[in-house]
Amino acid sequence: MDENRKLYEMALKAKEFAYAPYSGFKVGAALLTDDGIVFLGSNIENASYGATVCAERVAVFKAVSEAKTNIVKIAIASDTEDFTYPCGICRQVLSEFMPDGEIILGNKTHIKVCKVKDIIPNSFKLS
Ligand code: THU
Repeated sequence: MDENRKLYEMALKAKEFAYAPYSGFKVGAALLTDDGIVFLGSNIENASYGATVCAERVAVFKAVSEAKTNIVKIAIASDTEDFTYPCGICRQVLSEFMPDGEIILGNKTHIKVCKVKDIIPNSFKLS
């Protein structure tokens, strides 16, 4: 199995741990650091809806909070037929920690790869 497929399979596994009682929309993410470590994330919702955190950010914050700031790629899985792209806030976060990175998107039958730069051109920067 190739590396992208493996990471996507891990995102599918992470999806099982989603806490999504309000939307019912479960998302899993799996990221790979430049030193080969994988961090998983799933969306975590809250009765105060705005406190919800997406799967991608959970994975990124787990990595960064353990000093792993060089992220190479992140895979995202949901239950939908369509590919699940990161939301706007997650795109901004991905642009901070993996500006040159790749996103692996999957559905039931296909996997495709896109670049963070392509889905958030001109991301916000403090300069
Ligand atoms: N969600 C993610 O986890 N990642 C995304 O990229 C888009 C949305 C979650 C947030 C919320 O728990 C649910 O999906 C519905 O919006």
